[in-house]
Amino acid sequence: MSPKKPLFISTAIPYVNAKPHLGHALEFVETDIIARYNRLLGKEVFFLSGTDDNASKNVEIAEAAGVPIKEFVSTQAENFKKLLQDLGCENNDFIQTGIEERHIKGAQKLWNLCKKGDIELRKYKGLYCVGCEEFKTDKDIVNNECPLHPGRILQEIEEENYFFKLKNYEKELLDLIESNKLKIVPETRRNEILSFIKGGLNDLSISRSKERVKNWGIPVPNDDTQMMYVWFDALSNYINALGFAENSEKFQKFWENGESIHVVGKDISRFHAVYWPAMLMSAGIKTPDIILVHGFITSGGQKMSKSIGNVIDPYDLINEYGAEAARYILARHVSVFEDSDLTKESIKEYYNAGLANGLGNLVSRIMKMATVFGIKLDKYTKLNVAGPDFSFDESMNSFEINSVMNFIWTRIAYLDGYIQVEEPFKKIKIKPEEAKNNLIFILNELRDIAENLLPFLPNTAKNIIYLIESNKSPETPLFPRKD
Ligand code: MSP
Repeated sequence: MSPKKPLFISTAIPYVNAKPHLGHALEFVETDIIARYNRLLGKEVFFLSGTDDNASKNVEIAEAAGVPIKEFVSTQAENFKKLLQDLGCENNDFIQTGIEERHIKGAQKLWNLCKKGDIELRKYKGLYCVGCEEFKTDKDIVNNECPLHPGRILQEIEEENYFFKLKNYEKELLDLIESNKLKIVPETRRNEILSFIKGGLNDLSISRSKERVKNWGIPVPNDDTQMMYVWFDALSNYINALGFAENSEKFQKFWENGESIHVVGKDISRFHAVYWPAMLMSAGIKTPDIILVHGFITSGGQKMSKSIGNVIDPYDLINEYGAEAARYILARHVSVFEDSDLTKESIKEYYNAGLANGLGNLVSRIMKMATVFGIKLDKYTKLNVAGPDFSFDESMNSFEINSVMNFIWTRIAYLDGYIQVEEPFKKIKIKPEEAKNNLIFILNELRDIAENLLPFLPNTAKNIIYLIESNKSPETPLFPRKD
């Protein structure tokens, strides 16, 4: 990442047809960690999240609930805003694509800026998956179904639509990605995208008849029979939130002259790494710099689903263990790059091992000694004896959140071991000077661990710093053990 440029970082904007799930919580927390880390480096950061309101699946659910669609998307958005807040995320903005002028104007401006030869009106017949909000070709279909949405009937659709000639951008996209001007992380996802492009790009249908989408969406400029394809408008949310429509200073600063990162799940990497840059190139706008593609959370080895009964609600975690613990589980025990499995049982084990018996217990032991010895640490020096070869910044800049968390917990284990060996609480009676020196070293290390923890567990980190600086023991355990 660039050391100086202002940073724009975004989550994907979730569909609002259901409540937020643990996958959304993961993406929010990962994005917040990267945003906080960069703010701590002194960079100006703009962290954006929002909702994807214009999808047909939102309309289906609103109709079934008997609620007008505008009202439905607005109410649902509150759940996502609340989850961000309840997870301690410091997003700078939240865009709602169904109801905001800045989005409507921006999406239409982007459409108008696309090169005339890139958009074409054509008749099309195909099978549409409402789950993916995408037309499927023969190679995507297994047993007459979309494998990502089994049980959902594919809709046979024939109508006149606008098409975006993706083919025109095959070469430019390959250059962009191969040169790492657009960096796709991790490498495996980059390779997937490269082979997808090399396999040949089909033109993309970017509009729907107004009738079919029940008049819900962003109208295509100068054609009152068509609405934009939801992915066309949704992707433009990133620049619209920055004020692209009026070419604002914020847009210039964070997008055109800044660095941008989109954090997205593996199912939507293609939309972000192929369609979105192609649309931007056509419109003469800067392409994003980094697409960070995370894996999926499964539960008990299976996709989380209501019918299997293995869905973990993010509030199961927040209400039982607290927001900081939820961030800990998601940052340490869910791989950034691969799929990971969580169950209610494994969550409890992780909590007890890493937080109740690990960090929480360590802070209590140390602060008890510090208050008894009366030692207050005003200044500290970075020592980092547990992992001198580990580069925190290098790992953070390559988004290796799990490795960084493991490194911090190595430091915690090292400090635990140090106390065990040196036994300053016993030594204080016979060799008080040595015991005090031991404790100064311990406080130094703990202070530095707290510094490391700031992007991940910000409130816990600040609390530890406060306890050390004011020479206080925590009144109640930071992380009470759960049985
Ligand atoms: N609306 C689109 C995104 C448009 S971005 C311009 C969408 N919404 S979603 O609600 O289905 O997904 C939102 C994000 O959550 C995506 O990045 C998706 O990959 C991620 N996840 C959905 N299920 C997930 C898991 N089970 N685990 C981890 N992330 C998951 O796609």
